[in-house]
Amino acid sequence: MKKLVIISGGLGVLGQAFATVLQEDGYGILNLDVVEPPPDKKIIGDYLQCNIIDEQYIKKFNDYLASMDMEIHGLINSASSQPEGFGNELEDYSADSFKDVLEVNLVGSFYLTKTVIPYMKKQKFGSIISIGSIQGVVAPTFEIYEGMNITSPLVYSVAKAGMIHSCKWIAAKYGRWNIRCNAVSPGGLEDSQHGGDVFNKIYSSRTPLGRMAQSNEIAEVVRFLISDRSKYITGQNILVDGGWTVW
Ligand SMILES: NC(=O)c1ccc[n+]([C@@H]2O[C@H](COP(=O)([O-])OP(=O)(O)OC[C@H]3O[C@@H](n4cnc5c(N)ncnc54)[C@H](O)[C@@H]3O)[C@@H](O)[C@H]2O)c1
Repeated sequence: MKKLVIISGGLGVLGQAFATVLQEDGYGILNLDVVEPPPDKKIIGDYLQCNIIDEQYIKKFNDYLASMDMEIHGLINSASSQPEGFGNELEDYSADSFKDVLEVNLVGSFYLTKTVIPYMKKQKFGSIISIGSIQGVVAPTFEIYEGMNITSPLVYSVAKAGMIHSCKWIAAKYGRWNIRCNAVSPGGLEDSQHGGDVFNKIYSSRTPLGRMAQSNEIAEVVRFLISDRSKYITGQNILVDGGWTVW
């Protein structure tokens, strides 16, 4: 039976990097994303439009899974939103933006996890991965945002810390069904940053390896955690950050 991996935010830069390596490994890919694929762009894997914080879409997603003859092998929670004012200072932050970021990261991952768990319990197998961030582990180095007109917001750190901790809870609860749950926490990606060259240079100089990450470097860790080669690893947060968090 073909094995399916579901990727939320699957049309994003990292989502497609995950789809690429997992398709190479023979998995079926289902990308869930709130936006539709651009008509001129070929995407890796199948696509189902899904706003992961809307129960009607979650129901459609569940119906889709129920109609498939595939093992629900893995779920990657990669969707994250950057609403208007995402990079504002706390004093200017709107409650709506705060709630939106929390909802997509935490409530969205909760809905998807809740949907796949019954399938995984039946199969006695599953690998769930949540994409965290260095910002969910250490506080931002605010100096690097000076003169940039944006900052790394409180809500992003809180949401990512919540996703990382959820993995421990899920690992503890569902390990007896051989369901594993881990987080992968990237540092800043060179190929998915809106900060521009100046920001990238400053960021890189603060990183022990002297550069930002490439999305395929994050994808290789996801490839490992989805595979059986990591079958005794659960409840962990793997930092892929070029050493950002060592100091
Ligand atoms: N890019 C980085 O430097 C970086 C660093 C650390 C962690 N991360 C994390 O990695 C993950 C992927 O990042 P990325 O760079 O691919 O971002 P991205 O913005 O390219 O992709 C995120 C995707 O999530 C989708 N999305 C947003 N709201 C949604 C919703 N309600 N329902 C379904 N889909 C929704 C977006 O449409 C988008 O395609 C995110 O969780 C991000 O926080 C990124």
